[in-house]
Amino acid sequence: MEKFSITTAIDYVNGEAHIGHAYEKIFTDVIFRHYKKRADKAFFLTGTDEHGIKIQKTAKSLGVTPKELCDKNAASFINTWKLLDIDYSHFIRTTDDYHVAAVQNIFEKLLEKGDIYKHKYTGLYCSGCECFLAEKDLDENGCCPIHNKKPEVVSEENYFFKLTKYKERIIKHIKENPKFIQPEFRAQEVLNQLENIEDISVSRAKTNVNWGIEVKSDPSQVIYVWIDALSNYITGLGYNPEGNIKEDYNEFWPVNYHIIGKDILKFHSIYWIAILMALDIELPKSIYAHGWIMIDKSKMSKSTGNVISPKSVMEAFNLDNPDALRYFMATAAIGGKDGNYSDDDFKEKVNADLANNMGNLLNRTLNMLVKYFDGEIKEDFINSDLSDKVIETINEVLKLFDEMEIALAAQKIINLLDETNKYVNDTAPWALAKEEKMTECGRVLYTVLNVMAHAAILIEPYCPNIAFYMAKQLKIDVNQKFASMKDNMINAGKLISKEEIHPVFLRLDSEIMGAKKKA
Ligand code: ME8
Ligand code: MG
Repeated sequence: MEKFSITTAIDYVNGEAHIGHAYEKIFTDVIFRHYKKRADKAFFLTGTDEHGIKIQKTAKSLGVTPKELCDKNAASFINTWKLLDIDYSHFIRTTDDYHVAAVQNIFEKLLEKGDIYKHKYTGLYCSGCECFLAEKDLDENGCCPIHNKKPEVVSEENYFFKLTKYKERIIKHIKENPKFIQPEFRAQEVLNQLENIEDISVSRAKTNVNWGIEVKSDPSQVIYVWIDALSNYITGLGYNPEGNIKEDYNEFWPVNYHIIGKDILKFHSIYWIAILMALDIELPKSIYAHGWIMIDKSKMSKSTGNVISPKSVMEAFNLDNPDALRYFMATAAIGGKDGNYSDDDFKEKVNADLANNMGNLLNRTLNMLVKYFDGEIKEDFINSDLSDKVIETINEVLKLFDEMEIALAAQKIINLLDETNKYVNDTAPWALAKEEKMTECGRVLYTVLNVMAHAAILIEPYCPNIAFYMAKQLKIDVNQKFASMKDNMINAGKLISKEEIHPVFLRLDSEIMGAKKKA
């Protein structure tokens, strides 16, 4: 594979990063890190969505300017992603100058093309969704079903985009490309929505919304926040209709995946696609809509008071790196369905998989190597036992990533370690040592360590810190490409001394947490 590129949704900065935002960024980061081991070049774009009435209102209620609110919360998102070791290539803020200029030019280009026209309109606007809703979208109380709030009646003259012009082309594209919308069961939902689409309002009168990007040729209007936000996927790579500002656009567009939540699929698979068609730009290869993370089986919401931040989880469990949380999140859902976070599940899962299964196995085996052989791998220890199982696991993991089933892929790695644990118990190297069958004992230890070397490289996208410490003790390069992994990755010679052995992951002892996190 030559190139791989991926994007996430850009988060609204009216609040701070929560565990749902973290789910998406971790999910994307795991995929990115995996394909970095398969592609010559890879790119990962993320950022923050900073304009619109929602930000304007929140800032007002807090008594700060919108820009002050954006700066504060954008920093909070950036810090959170740093804490979680999100390895993005570029972070775009929609208030960045290059983005503002490019979006203005995009709007002018669509005006010149005749795909944008002026129109007087009355509609129901939900500031939570940042979009107009139709009567039929509302619940029995006349509220937005997602935000539980009555939309505002807006009556103004603004600009409209000819969405209907592209309807048939979008339908055709979705039908002809079954992998365009993933998981595949979501495609029908989009096709149904396409049946009833109308042209959409793509600007707001400045008298009603002033926190936005001005229309260049008509400063009485600001560009609709979703047009502004969606454009990040190309402006973030350097696109500008009047001349690109970075090579990344030529290199990495069209992206392999837009990763987004299921709630914003319509904006991506209809609005965004139509805009790209209008701009004569190639379409992304795929849009993947993930499910939602619930907390203790209920929807996370400010009013319920169950919104938790990644930082609070890390502090409550006293984690010095994010691997446990990354691992839990990346394995929290399969098939694009909803997932759930609970303290108990978290503790149980990472203790079982990362501490018992993986960490202990490495630690036990290295200690035996030191005890029986002074940490040395002898030439005649080297063997390829279990290598069929290793190769099978690698192939399955690669295939599952191509199917976007990263939770199932992790399970395959854990299964391999399970089998290796069984192998140790069956072959009982401690008994072999007692019987002085030293070569046999050495071969067993080698087999286990060699599996661990492969496992470290495979698990790195999920757990980069644990994998790094595993690799350090096994003297291998954890960032190597999958294709360069050899059957026997550990060489003969002194591998490790007693002092160099460190547990890579300790069990979470969590009587302490819970109360602490919620506080
Ligand atoms: O929608 N579980 O921003 P946003 C999983 N700015 N994912 C969740 C989640 C949860 N509990 N809560 C939110 C926006 N998300 C726009 C996007 S893109 C051009 C503009 C996901 O801050 C949500 O589905 O409301 C979305 O993909 C992302 O977090 C940002 O949500
Ligand atoms: Mg949202």
